[in-house]
Amino acid sequence: MTPYRRLAPGSQPERLHEAYRSTLQRNPRKPLIQIPQTLSEVTGPLYGHNPIGDTDNDLTRQHPGEPLGQRIIVAGRVLDEDGRSVSNSLIEIWQANAGGRYRHHVDNHPAPVDPNFTGAGRAITDADGRYRFVTIKPGAYPWRNHSNAWRPAHIHFSLFGPAFVTRLVTQMYFPDDPLFPYDPILQSIREPQAQQRLIARFDLDTTEELWALGYRWDIVLRGRAATPFEE
Ligand SMILES: [Fe+2]
Repeated sequence: MTPYRRLAPGSQPERLHEAYRSTLQRNPRKPLIQIPQTLSEVTGPLYGHNPIGDTDNDLTRQHPGEPLGQRIIVAGRVLDEDGRSVSNSLIEIWQANAGGRYRHHVDNHPAPVDPNFTGAGRAITDADGRYRFVTIKPGAYPWRNHSNAWRPAHIHFSLFGPAFVTRLVTQMYFPDDPLFPYDPILQSIREPQAQQRLIARFDLDTTEELWALGYRWDIVLRGRAATPFEE
């Protein structure tokens, strides 16, 4: 039997990371209380049972016209700690447009909204744990965490297991972004190798000729090679 593998220190984001200012407000100051799971929590209602639509995993085809920006394919597998595929996992993504702006009322920084881009998609992993999205590369965007703060380009990912309590949320980054050293969200993960697990790699096999650049990003749910997740 494979013993339970504890997460390596520094392999997950720190709950309280001073440079990431909002963690000062939201991090509990008292010791955490473990609430035992019951059957209803692991078998209870699950969001997102609606059938996946044709364009749910293609963010470039959700409007009458095509969005502006670099068309990309982001594909990979969801795996458990032993490298086995995790099928039937609902993956939801959300992201800024090519100009670095979210289609959201609180994002009012002076970059254009793209009428042909919502920035949200979803997919379900197949029998081999595979997922695939077509989208456009998001731009970097400014935020108010500290002076002249910019987030590296990223796509937010949420994964649902069999119940609400088995939801995991994280962010995927693009290779060689010069903003990495200045981003307190990525830097809240102390272990450099764990940071690397959030960075997709360019993949010529995923790239489609005359159509779109391809990136590969596998998500590992548990174990020492686990993808860092937000709490
Ligand atoms: Fe974001």
